[in-house]
Amino acid sequence: MQSGPLQEALSATSTAVERVLDPILAIPPGPEARVVEAMRYSVFSGGKRLRPFLVLASAELFDVERAHALRVAAAIECIHCYSLIHDDLPAMDDDDLRRGKPTVHKAFDEATAILAGDALVSLAFEILADDATHSDPFVRLELVRKLAHASGHHGMVGGQMIDLSAERMGLDEAAIHRLQQMKTGALISFSAESGAIMGHAGKQARAALHGYARDLGLAFQIADDLLDVEGSPEEVGKATGKDADAGKATLVGLMGVERARQQAVVLTDQAIAHLSMFDERASLLRAVAHFAINRRT
Ligand code: IPE
Ligand code: IPE
Ligand code: MG
Ligand code: MG
Ligand code: MG
Repeated sequence: MQSGPLQEALSATSTAVERVLDPILAIPPGPEARVVEAMRYSVFSGGKRLRPFLVLASAELFDVERAHALRVAAAIECIHCYSLIHDDLPAMDDDDLRRGKPTVHKAFDEATAILAGDALVSLAFEILADDATHSDPFVRLELVRKLAHASGHHGMVGGQMIDLSAERMGLDEAAIHRLQQMKTGALISFSAESGAIMGHAGKQARAALHGYARDLGLAFQIADDLLDVEGSPEEVGKATGKDADAGKATLVGLMGVERARQQAVVLTDQAIAHLSMFDERASLLRAVAHFAINRRT
């Protein structure tokens, strides 16, 4: 990875979130230890930690206590890791490589992978509901409700359902946007908006972050789909060249590499334009929008 303020912030995010999750994911003495080992295998396997980064960066805009923001960051990474474990299962994308290592069902077995995903969902909500996450119970409740909405059939799970059913269905551009907004955008939106929730931000600031995250989420998934076509497994840490064969509905498949890339650039500019009210306080959020489409991993 290159060096610079953004890379430093991403790497600091990773270290800090792992520090929160390590004691929470202590291996229990009984035979259920296996599921926790699988959870740890997924959570501590690297990853860009983009969603935790968005939580921390948005929380900084509203002077939220870092310890609180870190717990929300840990919760969203648990949901993200669960989504990856299940996405890789034979019944879904059937992938053997994730973050440069065997997928959880390969390193363990399918049943353990399903259970590790399930337990990561429960853990995310246990973390959010705990009073260590925020002193205001209304804030905790809003975090729980918004993350539940973003993860479930209105958001990530709904998007995954469309992704699987859309294989070879020939969705149009608007339908692909909706699919990507649900499967990827919803969790990214929650991450960027969580700082505003924790910081009791006003409507205008929330709307700005919502607009930013919406465009960023779409750009981020286009970049993921471009890496499937243009990246190598060594670079991206997962199998590439699979989406077209699987008949996945992607903007790259619909409009080709060049137009999809142009659309990602337009979305990035739009995302950044939403942040105008935050001045230089949002410089890392601006930088991460560029990173989302220029990344090679
Ligand atoms: C991969 O997400 C799945 C998508 C939603 C595109 P990331 O690219 O954020 O995966 P990690 O966490 O860095 O491995
Ligand atoms: C998955 O999208 C998005 C999730 C909700 C996990 P992909 O299937 O394109 O993600 P990768 O390419 O396997 O990381
Ligand atoms: Mg998938
Ligand atoms: Mg996949
Ligand atoms: Mg992909």
